[in-house]
Amino acid sequence: MSPVAQAGRAPQAASAAAKRPAHDTPATSRTIVAFCCRECAYAAADASANARTPLPATVRLVLMPCTGRVSPLHLLEALAGGADGAMVAGCLEGECHYREGNFNAIDRVLFVQRLLDSVGVEPERVRMFTMSAGEPPKFVAAVREMDRTIGDLPPLARS
Ligand code: FES
Repeated sequence: MSPVAQAGRAPQAASAAAKRPAHDTPATSRTIVAFCCRECAYAAADASANARTPLPATVRLVLMPCTGRVSPLHLLEALAGGADGAMVAGCLEGECHYREGNFNAIDRVLFVQRLLDSVGVEPERVRMFTMSAGEPPKFVAAVREMDRTIGDLPPLARS
């Protein structure tokens, strides 16, 4: 399994989500922060906007020079600051304009997923996606997938 596929899924099959009670907060009130590499994901987002492809209203885009600049603290602060999920969207594996920034991002996403899991928070709240600038539909699909995932989870408790 590729590192992106690993970072894109929960590290453990039995997530904490299954143990939580049903929730009644509408999924549309959730917030997802998407850290997007300028070279690919943000360009794909831009192209999808130009094509007037609607994105879920839950997503907030953050322009990054490269996913290698996304630190675990960015992801954790997004969750602590009110987001219900955070995604990192970068160039395809082997295509990072800064050589290995996306590989570093994959490692950091996996680290944060393990950290969340260790404290009883659903690890799937943080995910990694890759795409090229010429794949706006892939970006839209990633955001919609993240939106579905977060919509199926209860609101993130911050006690
Ligand atoms: Fe896109 Fe590094 S430049 S992930």
